[in-house]
Amino acid sequence: MTKVDLKFVDGLTLEEKASLVTGHDFWFTAAVPGFKKMMMTDGPSGLRKQSNAADALGLNNSVDAVCFPCSALTASSFDDDCLLKLGKHLGLAAKAENVGVLLGPGVNIKRSPLAGRNFEYFSEDPLLAGRMATAYVKGVQSQGIGVSVKHFALNNRENQRFTSSSNVDERTMREIYLSQFERVVKEAHPATIMCSYNKINGTLNSQNQRLLTGILRDEWGFDGLVMSDWGAVADHVAALKAGLDLEMPGNGQSSVDEIVQAVEEGRLDEGTLNRSALRVLQMVERWHTDGTTKSYDKEEQHDFARQAADDGIVLMKNDEQELPLNGNDKIAVIGELAEHPRYQGAGSSHVNAHQLVTPLDAMPDDATYAQGYQLDVDEEDGQLEQEAVDLAKTSQHVVFFAGFPASMESEGFDKTTIDLPANQTTLLKKVVQANRHVTVVLQNGSVVAMPWADQVPAIVETYLAGEAVGDATWDILTGKVNPSGKLCETFPIKLEDNPTYPTFGQDKANENYHEGLMVGYRYYDTKKMPVRFPFGHGLSYTSFEYSDLQIKQDNRQVSVSFSLTNTGKVAGKEVAQIYVGNQVSAIEKPAKELRDFIKVSLKPGESKQITRVLPRRAFAWYNENKESWQADNGQYEIFVGSSVEDIRLQQQFDYKLGTPVQVQLTSETYVGDMMAHQTPAIKRALQETGLGEKLKPILNSDSAAIFANIPLRSLVMGGISTDDVKKLIRLANA
Ligand code: BGC
Repeated sequence: MTKVDLKFVDGLTLEEKASLVTGHDFWFTAAVPGFKKMMMTDGPSGLRKQSNAADALGLNNSVDAVCFPCSALTASSFDDDCLLKLGKHLGLAAKAENVGVLLGPGVNIKRSPLAGRNFEYFSEDPLLAGRMATAYVKGVQSQGIGVSVKHFALNNRENQRFTSSSNVDERTMREIYLSQFERVVKEAHPATIMCSYNKINGTLNSQNQRLLTGILRDEWGFDGLVMSDWGAVADHVAALKAGLDLEMPGNGQSSVDEIVQAVEEGRLDEGTLNRSALRVLQMVERWHTDGTTKSYDKEEQHDFARQAADDGIVLMKNDEQELPLNGNDKIAVIGELAEHPRYQGAGSSHVNAHQLVTPLDAMPDDATYAQGYQLDVDEEDGQLEQEAVDLAKTSQHVVFFAGFPASMESEGFDKTTIDLPANQTTLLKKVVQANRHVTVVLQNGSVVAMPWADQVPAIVETYLAGEAVGDATWDILTGKVNPSGKLCETFPIKLEDNPTYPTFGQDKANENYHEGLMVGYRYYDTKKMPVRFPFGHGLSYTSFEYSDLQIKQDNRQVSVSFSLTNTGKVAGKEVAQIYVGNQVSAIEKPAKELRDFIKVSLKPGESKQITRVLPRRAFAWYNENKESWQADNGQYEIFVGSSVEDIRLQQQFDYKLGTPVQVQLTSETYVGDMMAHQTPAIKRALQETGLGEKLKPILNSDSAAIFANIPLRSLVMGGISTDDVKKLIRLANA
């Protein structure tokens, strides 16, 4: 609880209040008598505390800090506990560096594989993104450091991110793009939310009252502070009125003068200013550091960076148990990324890494390295290629490092392709001809096209694995760690398969969310479209068996239980995923949606009984006419599996804890629907009006399908009088 109140704010001068609602400079809040300025610094994969030369895009160096894996990789752990620990480490680092609020995590949905910032976001699925973010925020805030959850909302592309309008329907916005924010707000109570640059349906987010006040505060109960993304405010007075409390960064005295003048001229109510000034002071009072933590153990954090990467790395393919590597084999390590790895993203999340361990540093003593290609150019280098091919020929196994160069993906712009650079794929082809035992290790921020996937027996996705990338990669390759990561996004066969492909980034002013709810696996799975690797996919060096699915409903909740057994020879972890398919509601809906998951550790031969509880929301859809979440009673299917495609158990069940599907007849009710859902009242009404008898021959005739598709008001087409229809409706609804 904070002590500062409106009375205190009342005692400040107008100028002091105005100074509070705009940053003191790039990273600090303003000081007023009784309150010092407080620093805010970027996350989410490590602390980026800049000293003198400040910028928002990581152009200037920041303090030495441990660089953890990017969010794409931490989310691939599907491990709430890992994210909680990550948050605690980041909170501790922030505390020791006198930073009060950490700017992250970013929880936007990976809508298009081309979006430049996908590496910094958790998933294409809002449940996974929301769960990972909730654990992370709880971890940071448990250390007494606040977070700013960003970028609120629908900031799903980088090109023209300051001005483009994300045009989306209400249901899609609620179900796909807001529900992860909603979860974090309700479950983790973040100190602040960062409002994004873009517009939603034409309204600039920093001036969007419905978003910043109506939904965030009035509906979800958020009681923290809303700050702008750096440079997201176009009209500070309008922003304050809409519910934005703090403009960042500050623009010096002119920002202050602008607000003072608006109050003096009656354009801004002083009460509105007081409310936001109070929120700034409450944030500072609650989250400022007391300066007593002076240092922290970076070696321990480095070890955790390795564990977090171990937990997330995904074994995508492993034909004939190519991996783990045999300790006696002669191994060739090929590709410049082994020497100069991509281990973090570019832009505001860029960390001045404490201690980078490259895959080359960590490779087994008797392995041999060949550069193979140059990372910063697309052209092949004949000599480097020849050396690599010669090495491949004389080795028993090749570990081929491939990925996107830094110039290809970053905050601030979108990608134009998901293909690997041509010099990497050409070399790969030659290496595969020289040696068929090739494992490809990928370093990338988001989805890669892999037309070469069938030519190699093993593929390992390491994303941007943080400063311990080298050790973590070899942990997985050698089997020191049994892989347990699962894909947080679908890898399509080609970019063109993605539902946003034809429109993403095409219109500079508008990003139209034509695909609606069909984002990521929701699209591929519903469409039964083959993909390279599905959402939730990830192999292990052991095998797991699922059995004995049971679904129970008591008067409040649905519980799903099943048994999970490690049927292989080594200990391992499995991410069991629970999807729900809605088969009752007459609305557009994906075939199945992730509603829960759990990561389970099992020794060889061990079985565990898993019971998970699904809340009402797991069965609900957002009804925009009623402006509320609706869970319809009726038939659903529960799917339990190892990925969205690898479903091991499934069962239909009749959900009874929601709202009965109302069968109210109107003149627009279709004859077919009425006949299919005959309540006792409808049956009685059909009998009393005699319409049941009259309809019988029609519905038994060859024209039955045509009549089923006619609304009651048009039954005159079947020789039924309008009066009879009116009577039927009246009686059925009585
Ligand atoms: C980014 C934010 C970041 C801020 C401060 C902006 O450009 O979008 O994510 O927190 O800069 O560095």
